[in-house]
Amino acid sequence: MTVKPYLTSDEGKKKQIKNMFDNIAPKYDFLNHFLSLGIDKIWRRRAIGLLKDLKSPRILDIATGTGDLAIASLRLKPQSVVGLDLSPQMLKVGEEKIQKKKLDHIISMVEGDSENLPFNDGEFDAAMVAFGVRNFENLNAGLLEINRVLKPGGKFMVLEFSNPTVFPIKQLFKFYSSTILPWWGGLLSKDKAAYTYLPASVAAFPEGQAFVNELEKAGFTSLRVWKQTFGVATIYFAHK
Ligand SMILES: C[S@@+](CC[C@H](N)C(=O)[O-])C[C@H]1O[C@@H](n2cnc3c(N)ncnc32)[C@H](O)[C@@H]1O
Repeated sequence: MTVKPYLTSDEGKKKQIKNMFDNIAPKYDFLNHFLSLGIDKIWRRRAIGLLKDLKSPRILDIATGTGDLAIASLRLKPQSVVGLDLSPQMLKVGEEKIQKKKLDHIISMVEGDSENLPFNDGEFDAAMVAFGVRNFENLNAGLLEINRVLKPGGKFMVLEFSNPTVFPIKQLFKFYSSTILPWWGGLLSKDKAAYTYLPASVAAFPEGQAFVNELEKAGFTSLRVWKQTFGVATIYFAHK
């Protein structure tokens, strides 16, 4: 079953996701770090570390949002980084950050859809998605497109929320994500649906082996999986 943010709306998931991120964009960075207690920065750092063997890579950050992963990837000394996202308002916040940090000669932000990427076959040495694949309307179409724009042997990294399975983290996470997260997220972002959608979409996402199967179906190989912080997030790594 497809989980969408706004239960009373007839719009498709993609349109709803774009609207939702446009709504919460001005508060997204603050809420992200506040509600994850800053742990998201550690996960991003670890995930980027998986690409450290690449020499001057061309990197594509899909569902870049406000560009935090794209900015974190600069420690790989890339030739260029393209951040792509559906939401113009998320991109606007990201562009302001990138200009303020004087990084616009290396990071460019592009409005677009992961399921129909505006790039040629084999353009990138590496692709990455943080907290984005869960939001794709058609997961297989998105993964096939990412595979297409990677060079043969190109690297693909995904960081995504998952569901912890061990006591008492499972119970604590459930309480946090079903009670505290929608309350604080709704209050501070003024869009409660966004922070109710978040745990619902995590619960519905095909995590672990099920996501590995999706990656294989889209043509990726050499798959590896690392659970983070008792399984609250998972990093996936694959090759084209
Ligand atoms: C939770 S945010 C993650 C942003 C960023 N990667 C980060 O780590 O903070 C998810 C982003 O995915 C984008 N997104 C969802 N579906 C997309 C699609 N089909 N194509 C491009 N971006 C998409 C949303 O607009 C949103 O900015």
